[in-house]
Amino acid sequence: MDYQQIIEDIYKSIQPHAKEGKQATYIPELAKVDPDQFGMCIHTIYGETAAIEKADTRFSIQSISKVFSLAMCLSLKGDELWKRIGKEPSGTAFNSLVQLEIERGIPRNPFLNSGAIVMADILLSELTNPEEEFLSFVRAVSGNDSIEYNREVAASERENGYLNAAIVNLLKYNNNIENNIESVLQFYFLMCSIEMSCRELSQAFLAFANHRRKFDYAGITLTASQVKRINAIMQTCGFYDEAGEFSYLVGLPGKSGVGGGIVAIYPLLYSVAVWSPRLNAKGNSVMGLKALELFTSETKESIF
Ligand code: DON
Repeated sequence: MDYQQIIEDIYKSIQPHAKEGKQATYIPELAKVDPDQFGMCIHTIYGETAAIEKADTRFSIQSISKVFSLAMCLSLKGDELWKRIGKEPSGTAFNSLVQLEIERGIPRNPFLNSGAIVMADILLSELTNPEEEFLSFVRAVSGNDSIEYNREVAASERENGYLNAAIVNLLKYNNNIENNIESVLQFYFLMCSIEMSCRELSQAFLAFANHRRKFDYAGITLTASQVKRINAIMQTCGFYDEAGEFSYLVGLPGKSGVGGGIVAIYPLLYSVAVWSPRLNAKGNSVMGLKALELFTSETKESIF
């Protein structure tokens, strides 16, 4: 398969959509990013790789970080985790409060903001140095020690994080937060602020694409079955109220972030990351979705 040629052709054919959507502005630091950028990178489990345009430019991974949090929480807590977080698709926006109130502070799934805030609380309780240990894990799984948090982005989000503050309060009221709510929020925003490029993300997600290889990074270990289950949750919950659409158009487990990144995997074959900051109304990258739809259509490599 000539992945390089395929992604170059895809990039040309999606140009008519280049100005659709706009970047996230509710995090003021993200509003400063040039919206007209695009990067894409694929790695196969056999060592092939292809990359185009801004594949090496780092961006704010935002909610993609929730996959790393889930890996750590499952490794630390095992199935105990599911007492505090569900694993059903929500059909609601990533920051919705509606179900959380009705379901008495048990987030529907780990990829909603509410679920990831509970995971931040778990990591604060379980780890001795949560900030360092989370970063060490992400660096180990990506094989890249230069990956960093962006503390300006985290602070900018905290200053405007009224909805997430409401979420953490509702969780605390329902006894689903153990730590001080301010520490939990700050750690959650910090995890979202990690910056990575498409090449680094696609490299990191090979660990999820290849569940037959031992998952053991910076002391975080998962069984093949746990990796498979993380992929199942990416398939059903990775795109919030657009999870069905992503499944229909692309047909892969994946995860998006409001920085404009999307990463998707084809188990036992490849991991692909794409980035373009302009988002649709559901908070997912317009060009990213188009590129992945064409990618699995052209290669005929999707799980369906
Ligand atoms: O909490 C927030 O709103 C952001 N830090 C992350 C949201 C996000 O990336 C949702 N993904 N599409």
